[in-house]
Amino acid sequence: MADTHPDPLQRPLPDGIVPAEVVARTEKRWLGVMVAMLIVMMAVVVLTGMTHAISPPSNVETIDPTTLHLGGEFAESNLGTAQERDGSLTTRLVGGQYGFTPECTKVAADTPVKFRLTSMDVIHGFLLPSTNVNTMVVPGFVAEVRTRFARPGIYRMPCNEFCGAGHHGMWARVSVVPKDQFQSLAPTERSSCVQQ
Ligand code: CUA
Repeated sequence: MADTHPDPLQRPLPDGIVPAEVVARTEKRWLGVMVAMLIVMMAVVVLTGMTHAISPPSNVETIDPTTLHLGGEFAESNLGTAQERDGSLTTRLVGGQYGFTPECTKVAADTPVKFRLTSMDVIHGFLLPSTNVNTMVVPGFVAEVRTRFARPGIYRMPCNEFCGAGHHGMWARVSVVPKDQFQSLAPTERSSCVQQ
């Protein structure tokens, strides 16, 4: 009789015990499924990064949050939108409890726009609905996001990281104006739209 074989490994398995080779085959299949999922997810990250400029934060640039107002890139006179030599725009903002400075920025449609942001206190979030702009604004770091607005309009930007009691009221605006209209504005009118 097989179930009295002197070697226990040679005896038939009791009911409910799955043979080792079946376990190994099932594990191999699941391993294959997981590797395939990883490949798909990596492909999504790479493809969306290349085709839609949606990419995980990779710009590690540090800054001292305690001296932002004293000088350098994020001094008050540098905030808002500036035009680069190549015609592209750079918009600089500082987040703080509970607002962005400047509260309204102006940019041109159909133009490459680079947002550079930092925080003076805690972590804030910067999100422009219907665009690829969505980043954390972490004190000590400069967040950089590149985009291009296809249509003029007012884009409201909520702070989307909980930052304290006034978080829900931390909103600002990006006013996107037609390209030709933007060019006819005076430099002070281009940098922000706070007075409007
Ligand atoms: Cu700032 Cu939430």
